[in-house]
Amino acid sequence: MLKTMQQLPFLLFILSSIHVHCLHQDNHLLFPLHNNLQWSHPPYHNSPFPFLPPRSRREKNGIILEMKHKRHWSHEDELIEISKSAAQIPLKSGILLKTLNYIVSIKLANRKMTMIIDTGSDLTWTQCKPCFSCYIQQDPVFDPHLSSSYQNISCDSSTCIALKPVSSGCTSNGANCGYALSYGDGSYTLGVLGKDKINLGGITVEEFIFGCGRSNHGLFGGVSGIIGLGRTQLSLVSQTINQFGGVFSYCLPTRAFNSSGSLILGNDSSLYRNITPISYTRLVSGPVKLPFYFVNLTGMIIGGERLTEGLFNGRVLIDSGTVITRLAPSVYRAMRDVFVKRFSGYPPAPPFSILDTCFDLSEYEEVKVPIMKFVFEGDVELTVDVTGILYIVKRDASQVCLAVSSLESEDEVGIIGNFQQKNLRVVYDSAGSKLGFAKEICGYDHQN
Ligand SMILES: *[C@@H]1O[C@H](CO)[C@@H](O)[C@H](O)[C@H]1NC(C)=O
Ligand SMILES: *[C@@H]1O[C@H](CO)[C@@H](O)[C@H](O)[C@H]1NC(C)=O
Ligand SMILES: *[C@@H]1O[C@H](CO)[C@@H](O)[C@H](O)[C@H]1NC(C)=O
Ligand SMILES: *[C@@H]1O[C@H](CO)[C@@H](O)[C@H](O)[C@H]1NC(C)=O
Repeated sequence: MLKTMQQLPFLLFILSSIHVHCLHQDNHLLFPLHNNLQWSHPPYHNSPFPFLPPRSRREKNGIILEMKHKRHWSHEDELIEISKSAAQIPLKSGILLKTLNYIVSIKLANRKMTMIIDTGSDLTWTQCKPCFSCYIQQDPVFDPHLSSSYQNISCDSSTCIALKPVSSGCTSNGANCGYALSYGDGSYTLGVLGKDKINLGGITVEEFIFGCGRSNHGLFGGVSGIIGLGRTQLSLVSQTINQFGGVFSYCLPTRAFNSSGSLILGNDSSLYRNITPISYTRLVSGPVKLPFYFVNLTGMIIGGERLTEGLFNGRVLIDSGTVITRLAPSVYRAMRDVFVKRFSGYPPAPPFSILDTCFDLSEYEEVKVPIMKFVFEGDVELTVDVTGILYIVKRDASQVCLAVSSLESEDEVGIIGNFQQKNLRVVYDSAGSKLGFAKEICGYDHQN
């Protein structure tokens, strides 16, 4: 999670009802700027964000992934009896809690928690009392002493040993199983692993293993913690396989206040509100046993023009916890050049942070934006929603940037971030080893 917008100041904008007015016009979408833009007051200036995925750091232009996990999904999992339950949980932009990630409310031992959903990490953790060092969060900090169902995990237990290297052995002041998770930007959470019941959209899961974070530092906004939806045995997806069968999906809304999407745990497609059929691409395995969901990116189409296929060398990861999509430099340059060619006639504006292609659109009521599609193995096309193509930096639209960025080197792995996943049903089917996409309008709660 949290990788890609190091220097973006926290400028908010609301794109309300935009999809309603968007018309397809010869491979372009009409993006009515002034009619549809309402700006909020930026509550949180000068704030950097945490950007590297948990347990990774940047070194020599590559992302070094520090985590090793014991296994991916294995055939053993197929033997587990899978029930038919599903949980639907409303999902919102975390913008009011000062994060560009998406948040859900769950209950841990009947206490409400507001958590970031992150498909790029596996440990679920929350701030816990007694805190040695906690940041300010919206909900009360979890106090295990007030929960009769909370259980410590002892440091000599097989669970603690099996959870290495997240677990860090015995805590200095006791026999509890400690954990340490550091983030690429220096953010971290430290604490003990514990078990308690969690409630996810009405379905209770007993003895859920999570991190009770006693010392948490970083730019997590005002959330209680993070839900790890990655692929390894520690993740929520793996721990709830009996309830939900190893399948989940989400629809990420735009950042309009109160605009709600959903996180659906389980494989109940009757809960989806997709308006196109779901197309699935294969999940490809990663270089090591990491929490990430890798898919095979085989092409891109910008304004109807297909980029040279030879540019694409395969694996990218899809992540709900990364904001801006990052592409290999050669792919990014080719994509940007076609975009600029198709989005011609608009005056340029200075670059902004990691976004190098910006325009001054202050004189326009609406603009025609080239349609952006990612193509994955099996000819599965993901059409980016119009709200996921341009990042509006200035509220008068005098600086509006192409919301995709370049990686530093060709060896880094590309990431499809959450800004480009809005208004889509994205289905993560680890059990079936596939990932699906369909168009879905997620902000229906507050739009007509
Ligand atoms: C968990 O461990 C802590 C520290 O050793 C202790 O204070 C607490 O009472 C334990 N809780 C339970 C439920 O065993
Ligand atoms: C959002 O919802 C809350 C409570 O439902 C309401 O008080 C508030 O006015 C809404 N805000 C907007 C911008 O619609
Ligand atoms: C991605 O798909 C292409 C075309 O089907 C194939 O040639 C390539 O081997 C695949 N890459 C990976 C990493 O699976
Ligand atoms: C989930 O449902 C889809 C469509 O109904 C199906 O193709 C897929 O195999 C199912 N996955 C699992 C793990 O049951």
